[in-house]
Amino acid sequence: MCPPAHFRVTYSINPWMDPSKPVDLPLALAQWEVLRDRYRALGHTVSLLEPRPDLPDMVFAANGATVIDGRVLGARFAHPERTREAEAHLAWFRARGFTDIHEPAHINEGEGDFAVTASYILAGRGFRSSPLSHDEAQEFFGRPVIGLDLVDPRYYHLDTALCVLDDAADEVMYYPGAFSPGSRAVLARLFPDAIIAEDADAAALGLNAVSDGRHVLLPQAAAGLFAPLRDRGYEPIAMDLGELLKGGGSVKCCTQELRQEQELDVRRELLLSA
Ligand code: ARG
Repeated sequence: MCPPAHFRVTYSINPWMDPSKPVDLPLALAQWEVLRDRYRALGHTVSLLEPRPDLPDMVFAANGATVIDGRVLGARFAHPERTREAEAHLAWFRARGFTDIHEPAHINEGEGDFAVTASYILAGRGFRSSPLSHDEAQEFFGRPVIGLDLVDPRYYHLDTALCVLDDAADEVMYYPGAFSPGSRAVLARLFPDAIIAEDADAAALGLNAVSDGRHVLLPQAAAGLFAPLRDRGYEPIAMDLGELLKGGGSVKCCTQELRQEQELDVRRELLLSA
């Protein structure tokens, strides 16, 4: 995660961003700290990236890389305003001893457009990440990448329209309206039991959520998602990141997951023995 110390909306690269709307910076920081503390209280380790004054969107740490089995696929941003975030992330990984790092040739905005399930990497395209980055990710990670076409500019990243609920299984929730008809059919075929979000919950960025396989942290305004999550045995946890919504992001955007090989193996074993 990266604290929103320098968060502001001075440019607009998605429909949520309106530079004429003021941002309450102390409130943004306080809301973000609640999220960080909640992860820690749930037993997760939170590592921090140093915010840079010239990069106001850096709080959206999910976009900086994709890490699976300790292997790091760097990001390459679509907009010049965010370009230099990629090197900040790479430097972070290098300083912490990650050696299996791939610097991408094609545009990909990290976990904004890559979502990891047990069987696949789901990959968004249409607004930010290049379809060519999907092949690049497949080659690097050696996992099947499923390309999905995003068609509604409000849902410009895959993680605004789809959330993986359990990456040791293949459980997701998503908003069909964000996808092309063909991609909707693909999702219905791969995830027949998915939770389907209604318009209002998607519009509250309710799918921009983070699940650890048990707890699901999601925007509190997405009220319609709480009951379906509980019905499936998840514990929904309401978060208010209202100030960061002005940048077009919420819980997931603020969170990049560092998937270590070992952790996944342990989770799979737990699941198999359950
Ligand atoms: N203002 C940022 C942008 O438009 C928001 C990024 C949100 N991050 C995400 N993972 N969806 O790039």
